Amino acid sequence: MSPSAARPASQPGPPDQPSSPDARLYNLCAGPSVFPDEVLQQIREDLWNYRGTGLGIMEISHRGPAFDELLADTQAAIRRLAKIPDDYSILFMTGGSTAQNFLVPLNMLPPGGTADYIETGYWSQRSVEDCRQAGYAPHRAFSGRDTQFRRIPADSELRFSSRPGYVHYTSNNTIYGTQFHRIPRVPEGVPLVCDACSDIFSRPIDISRYDLVYASAQKNLGVTGVTLVIARNEFIERGRTDIPRMLQYRTFAREESPPNTPPHFSIYTVNLMVHWILRQGGLEAMAARNAEKARILYDALDASGFYRPHADRTGPDAVWGSRSLMNVVFRLPTEQLDDLFVREARQAGFDQLRGHRATGGVRASIYNAFPKDGCTEFARFLVDFERRHA
Ligand SMILES: Cc1ncc(COP(=O)(O)O)c(C=O)c1O
Repeated sequence: MSPSAARPASQPGPPDQPSSPDARLYNLCAGPSVFPDEVLQQIREDLWNYRGTGLGIMEISHRGPAFDELLADTQAAIRRLAKIPDDYSILFMTGGSTAQNFLVPLNMLPPGGTADYIETGYWSQRSVEDCRQAGYAPHRAFSGRDTQFRRIPADSELRFSSRPGYVHYTSNNTIYGTQFHRIPRVPEGVPLVCDACSDIFSRPIDISRYDLVYASAQKNLGVTGVTLVIARNEFIERGRTDIPRMLQYRTFAREESPPNTPPHFSIYTVNLMVHWILRQGGLEAMAARNAEKARILYDALDASGFYRPHADRTGPDAVWGSRSLMNVVFRLPTEQLDDLFVREARQAGFDQLRGHRATGGVRASIYNAFPKDGCTEFARFLVDFERRHA
């Protein structure tokens, strides 16, 4: 296959080939990540004149009717998409998912209190460390460190402490390419908190099982700068009141309008993405489409003795084991081949494939907006590269 065969007709031309100024690559970045073409085109229009206001979306005031309407519509669309009942609040915060690492314990734990963490990768390690640094005593209910974070634990492996303030887990491990395909079972009455940064709205979510779910936008939800928090009102109200106002969840839940200037462009992109998912058929349709895409890549990897996927193929889930449907992480036989693969892939039109420094190798992130055709083309590239270099 010639490199040019890997280019989609709508995204012609890697930069080192003759191409039009509009040339685009398949974006397999772990985040900030790919947008659907139709959403990008809508943004292009709205940058100039947002829905007849005569102002671009970046210029409108957060105290005006256009933003009020945008905010209300975004919240309503999220409720519709994920079936969020009225006793949960939908908040738009800043500081990324990383800030939630200290905001959750700060709000929900008494000074020095304990929460349980299911440590399945880099980001959940960070959650534990940040909780400790904020002055609390996190307990690891599980750690996958000894097995290089290749696998997701079964419920029977979780060892909870006696009275944790909450249990925290990361539903998709962006760096190691593992994912929970079920919600972990936690002790009766203990609140469950989830970092869903890299798989939010990639499949249906049963929000009633959670007290708080957070996800910064830059993977499945929109552009970086805003963090979506969905939290049970009763949980929010139980939070501490003796911490600064802007660190309390209730400040964001209660205010009629946002408590300070919000990242309104980012919220606007979340609005477009949520409506795009609704137009695709909602979360069930997204789940089916994401499974199909991931299947194409894992089948190609499994058919080869050359590529070595990082995540365990076996595990608590009968179909996927511990494998992520969002981030497909694998290695080649040598680091030199890893490098060559990433370089040649870019020339063939597939960008941002280098694995995180913690794993090395290759990471193909195929979030909601990544097209199925891109997976098919990339699977062909895998076969072709192996034929030429194995
Ligand atoms: C699972 C997960 N949690 C947390 C983060 C940190 O997010 P942010 O950079 O928005 O703070 C990331 C970033 O990639 C992530 O993948």
